[in-house]
Amino acid sequence: MSTEETLSNLLHETRRFEPPAELAESANVKAEVYARAAGDREAFWAEAAERLTWAEPWTRVLDDDNAPFYQWFTGGKLNAAYNCVDRHVEAGLGDRVAIHWVGEPVDDKRTITYTDLQREVAQAANTYAAMGVGSGDCVAIYMPMIPEAIVAMLAAARIGAIHTVVFGGFSAEALAARVEDCGAKLIVTADGGWRRGAHSALKPTVDEAIEKLGDRGKVSNVLVVRRTGQDIDWNADLDVWWHDSVATASTEHTPEAFDAEHPLYVMYTSGTTGKPKGIKHTTGGYLTQAAYTHWAQFDLKPDTDVYWCTADIGWVTGHSYIVYGPLANGVTQVLYEGTPDAPERGRWWKIIEEYKVSLFYTAPTAIRSFMKQGDAIPAACDLSSLRVLGSVGEPINPEAYVWYKTVIGGGAPVIDTWWQTETGATMMTPLPGVTAAKPGSAMGAFPGITVDVVDDEGNSVPNGSGGYLVVTSPWPSMLRTIWGDDQRYVDTYWARFKAQGYYFAGDGAKKDEDGDIWVLGRVDDVMNVSGHRLSTTEIESALVSHPYVAEAAVVGATDPDTGQAVVAYVILRESAPGDCERELSDHVRKEIGPIAKPKRIMVVPELPKTRSGKIMRRLLRDLAEGRGVGDTTTLADSSIMELIAAGKAAATDE
Ligand code: WTA
Repeated sequence: MSTEETLSNLLHETRRFEPPAELAESANVKAEVYARAAGDREAFWAEAAERLTWAEPWTRVLDDDNAPFYQWFTGGKLNAAYNCVDRHVEAGLGDRVAIHWVGEPVDDKRTITYTDLQREVAQAANTYAAMGVGSGDCVAIYMPMIPEAIVAMLAAARIGAIHTVVFGGFSAEALAARVEDCGAKLIVTADGGWRRGAHSALKPTVDEAIEKLGDRGKVSNVLVVRRTGQDIDWNADLDVWWHDSVATASTEHTPEAFDAEHPLYVMYTSGTTGKPKGIKHTTGGYLTQAAYTHWAQFDLKPDTDVYWCTADIGWVTGHSYIVYGPLANGVTQVLYEGTPDAPERGRWWKIIEEYKVSLFYTAPTAIRSFMKQGDAIPAACDLSSLRVLGSVGEPINPEAYVWYKTVIGGGAPVIDTWWQTETGATMMTPLPGVTAAKPGSAMGAFPGITVDVVDDEGNSVPNGSGGYLVVTSPWPSMLRTIWGDDQRYVDTYWARFKAQGYYFAGDGAKKDEDGDIWVLGRVDDVMNVSGHRLSTTEIESALVSHPYVAEAAVVGATDPDTGQAVVAYVILRESAPGDCERELSDHVRKEIGPIAKPKRIMVVPELPKTRSGKIMRRLLRDLAEGRGVGDTTTLADSSIMELIAAGKAAATDE
């Protein structure tokens, strides 16, 4: 029994996809970038920062005097909203479409140019100021995916207020906890939004959150966009309609420049347990890395590309790759309000066809659910405009990657971007014009970023082995602290490898024989079978590589013989026959070896997922170990665990 092993390396993937010649030829960044960035990281990031417009230049690129409380571009001043909006108008691009907004009801559309955006952001900034919101105050945003959500964020940034966007699917309890933690003075919301063909109310949740907070709350106004027109309660002391205030405010507003380290936003990330952490991001370094990575990893040509990121504005992906990165780059983008299957399963593909989307960014969970539905639905649309595809949020199984690349992308390069709420922007990814990408691998660090895979002692593991993913030097868009809890910041991210000064990401990873990096999922999910530490990802990918399987979640359940045993929950593709558990189990044995063979396989209709689409393996582990359904409050759909449990009971009875 090997106890030395930090994480086993199981899956061997040999496919490689070279960049298309034409793309490589005209790419924004070429292979030389890696050596240049490594040669002088600070000079590299300083050059990236020069792409922004600064009111005052910085005096120091990286200030590491008080590690791990790093600072970037100290002394510099800029305005994030000016960089995302006004400077494009000043450059003569005011008529360029910033947002092609698509509502969920078909034909509910709006087109917003950079000039329109500038006016509306100025109006909202004036409205906030009139409500007594100023620099350093916090604005909570609880909105559907409508253009006003972006305006609400940029207006806060424009006046130096800190925004905290709370995903519209969160409960009053969750909203109240976040509003209290950041001390928000203003909440921006809407009566409701459209979801799956119906109104989904938001304002009543805000009312409930404010009531829950009572004296602990500091909210002095609620600014309400009328989106659905549904009935809502009105509190004349607090509530103000957007159309009565923002829409009538002056369109003139002079932006003030703020310090590079001025807080831009706080984004709460729950993890799977404990009090949510308020991740604090600041202005200059964050905007630099969000904008530069977006431009480089998508090979963005702002004059001709149409970009679409399907994330919700309530997640960090929406912050960095809908709002700050793309708008700082002057992009034309699609913003879609609804769900992928409303009113029909092919809705996303129709939108890509209609707007000729060329750069597309989504999550593995969405890709796998489309894969389950088969190829015919996307095949009915013309997707030939797509030229770079991105994936983020979870490891992408090689089979899902290949499906995405071929069926959706017609062979276009896929960038598998690894990053976190805490990192603010991409940390690892292939580059579409440079890297010969391997399906399922984030490949390696972005230029100017340094990562490694290390063992328990913090030593770099050799190629062919697994361990912990770490970031070995500070980066511009890094979190600055956990809001109101510096100690928790140090303990959570910097204590594990304190001696080396590494940032501990909480993910397991391996280096393959070429030294390319594969993220293997959260360290908390690692199983220990007969002394072998196995990651969930590789076994799941082996299952998904079988033509019957669309999605899989693997957990370790206590086992008298092996310590833990592999238990797999699978969703079958619509074309699969019933009764295939044995075949799937044998398939895993064949693909990665007997050690990884699932002891039990359960076919389920759905998997428990967080609201941002990540599989919650902890709940499945509880179930596999007979602890019942457990706490399902953080699930997107809390009834799913009941469904799975019922199916499991049936399977055991047989
Ligand atoms: C996971 C989302 C593998 C990982 C931007 C990370 C990934 C967590 C990838 C952060 C990827 C994200 N490959 N795993 N390309 N991207 N993850 O904070 O476990 O919502 O630590 O940020 O998602 O999730 P978060």
